[in-house]
Amino acid sequence: MKYNFDTEINRSETSSVKYDLRETIFGKSDVIPMWVADMDFETPDFIREAVIERANNPVFGYTFRDSDYYNHIINWLNEHHQWKVEKDSILFCPGVVPALNFAVLAYTKPNDKIIIQSPVYFPFFGAIKSHNRELVNNQLVKTEAGYIIDFDLLEEQAKDAVLLILCNPHNPVGRAWTRSELERIASICLKHNILVLSDEIHADLVLPGYKHEVFANISPEVAAITITTHAPSKTFNLAGLATSSVIITNPDLRRVFQLFIDDLHIGMGNIFGIVASNASYGKGNEWRMQLIEYLNDNVNYVEKFIRVNIPAIRVFRPEATYMIWLDFLGYGLTDEILKRKMIFEAGLGLNAGTDFGPGGEGCMRLNIACPRKTVEAAMLRLKEVYANA
Ligand SMILES: Cc1ncc(COP(=O)(O)O)c(C=O)c1O
Repeated sequence: MKYNFDTEINRSETSSVKYDLRETIFGKSDVIPMWVADMDFETPDFIREAVIERANNPVFGYTFRDSDYYNHIINWLNEHHQWKVEKDSILFCPGVVPALNFAVLAYTKPNDKIIIQSPVYFPFFGAIKSHNRELVNNQLVKTEAGYIIDFDLLEEQAKDAVLLILCNPHNPVGRAWTRSELERIASICLKHNILVLSDEIHADLVLPGYKHEVFANISPEVAAITITTHAPSKTFNLAGLATSSVIITNPDLRRVFQLFIDDLHIGMGNIFGIVASNASYGKGNEWRMQLIEYLNDNVNYVEKFIRVNIPAIRVFRPEATYMIWLDFLGYGLTDEILKRKMIFEAGLGLNAGTDFGPGGEGCMRLNIACPRKTVEAAMLRLKEVYANA
């Protein structure tokens, strides 16, 4: 491998949410942090160099995104997702979570029904509830083969809903929805005239054997009802640079969204986010492919280790994302005890499944975007607590 994912970086005292908030989040400052979705790998040289080069010009005034910025995104989406997007369709937003909130405010009214599919990334709940919209849960169904969508329920729920917030690929259960699954969702949403926000922030982290399908790419009719969020922040670990895209091909929907960005004056963005985005999309594919290989090996390691040593834990092998959804239901513990055991006995900082809403009971989300050594240490701790529990 040209790039090194084994190096352990000391992230403590860098104002890192993952490391420096451990005491606040877990009540224990030395848990191995395998929770919030960022990666412990070093940022590749071509991104660091781009940021340093910009920093070498010592004035950081107001900045705009030129055509270079948009062309990098357009080329990336075309090359890796066969999605042809015009420059005008790409809007800037400092984050995907703000974009979810703006979409809810822009396209729905108080008490409107918005569908999500739990267990799901928890800010989806906040984006609905904090603006007094009605949350409708199309809970995913856990089967022997993995998580699937309850389409009959979705058909019923869509009748009087206004918006579906789709997590594509899905965090935390790791599904990379297939084209036929997305087509079924699309036909229901078109039939009942509801909009879809497809959060595709994990699109570039699909594991070998699977493919990301862009929801808006299903057909021009589907594109016309879709707001897509995309970003380099998960793939290249740039969350601290606050740079993401909202892609809306329908000009009427786009105008409404742009008004929010303009009125709130948040469209300026971050100088370093611009150069890092350009470097990532311009030079980052080889790094990304090696990253995916490394993540996949981490997944293989965890899957095998648990199968051999702690078979009572069910592993949902991810098709995308660097999260592994682990099911501890076989232990019959309450969620509170499961959480406390993980922190205070195993010394591991994972996300509790219940944070992701109904369906998360008895589960935990493990972030394996870290050097293999860290994963190995975590597995040994897990074994000590759960092998004979
Ligand atoms: C599905 C999903 N959307 C959005 C985000 C975060 O987006 P941002 O940091 O750009 O607000 C995450 C982070 O884990 C995520 O998993």
